[in-house]
Amino acid sequence: MDAKIVLLPGDGIGPEIVTQGRRVLETVAERFGHSFEMSEHPIGGNAIDDFGDPLPQATVDACRDSAAILLGAVGGPKWDDPTAKTRPEAGLLKIRQELGLFANLRPIQTWDELVDASPLRRDIVAGTDILFFRELTGGIYFGDSGRRPHDSGEAAYNEMVYSTGEVERVVRLAAQAAQKRKGKLTSVDKANVLEASRLWRQVAERVVTEEFPDIEYEVVLVDAMAMHLISRPKDFDVVVTGNMFGDILTDEASMLPGSLGLLPSASLGSDGPGLYEPIHGSAPDIAGQNLANPLATILAVAMLLRHSLNLNDEAAAVEEVVSATLKAGHRTRDIASGGTSVSTTEMGDLVVSQLQA
Ligand code: IPM
Ligand code: MG
Repeated sequence: MDAKIVLLPGDGIGPEIVTQGRRVLETVAERFGHSFEMSEHPIGGNAIDDFGDPLPQATVDACRDSAAILLGAVGGPKWDDPTAKTRPEAGLLKIRQELGLFANLRPIQTWDELVDASPLRRDIVAGTDILFFRELTGGIYFGDSGRRPHDSGEAAYNEMVYSTGEVERVVRLAAQAAQKRKGKLTSVDKANVLEASRLWRQVAERVVTEEFPDIEYEVVLVDAMAMHLISRPKDFDVVVTGNMFGDILTDEASMLPGSLGLLPSASLGSDGPGLYEPIHGSAPDIAGQNLANPLATILAVAMLLRHSLNLNDEAAAVEEVVSATLKAGHRTRDIASGGTSVSTTEMGDLVVSQLQA
């Protein structure tokens, strides 16, 4: 297979981890006889510094012309000024919107050898396997926003909007995924308060009843879900929810396996390239020190191979190698629980050499 892959390293630890992701892609290409044409483009804070824009048009054009995109992370204290004209995060929101990446898949799996790194008890988390579908291009992150005068000074507002079509398409994808897993779908909303959630619930229920009568379906309010996620995470299979609820709940859920450093995500649209990235951020505190855990990015590479290139054997090979590396006891500092650890590049070396074998 010939495929164009765009790399967006971004800020902080982004360049270090994407470098390891690139090596894995090169190794897969070599071992399985593919040709990946890879090019790097700016996004985020460094793009603001160099081009005055967190998402330069040339980056968007390259992404549109690709089969898949691998992103590191964006943001950092340097660009945190709340009065700044633009922020690194705006680049990320815009690329999602430009490419119509409405479904964000965030698998939360526990690794038996790391369960003891979780802040929660082994008996609660071991065996957890949840696939989140976060709606990614609608809701309050994309609604009308602004400020207006107020007696006390100013008022600020953000509008939360969902349309029938936006709910239908993400619920449909989530229900299809549930059919291939344990057959259970949980839709999360705040329908006791928000009108946008009442539409969400109505549409989700209709899609499931009409098109997926075979799956087990439930609705849970978002505040209750925050609680259930840490008290009985094993009860969930596929979870679908709106943009902001999904943002918050997936950060919460990311603590179940014990480390953010192992969690990949995929953002998909109805056609065109998918975007793959680790769930964690740019970790400016350890940037440039060769300490970051590249495994989430490497697992994002596996998702890229599977979802955008349809290379299922290659994806499984990458996942098996990551699993074997962890089983063999190799740890970056974030998951070493104070024990001996390997660097970012050493972890990359371990994965690459096993993948070559
Ligand atoms: C995420 C991040 C982003 C989001 C930020 C950086 C804009 O938190 O991918 O979850 O809120 O979507
Ligand atoms: Mg987030």
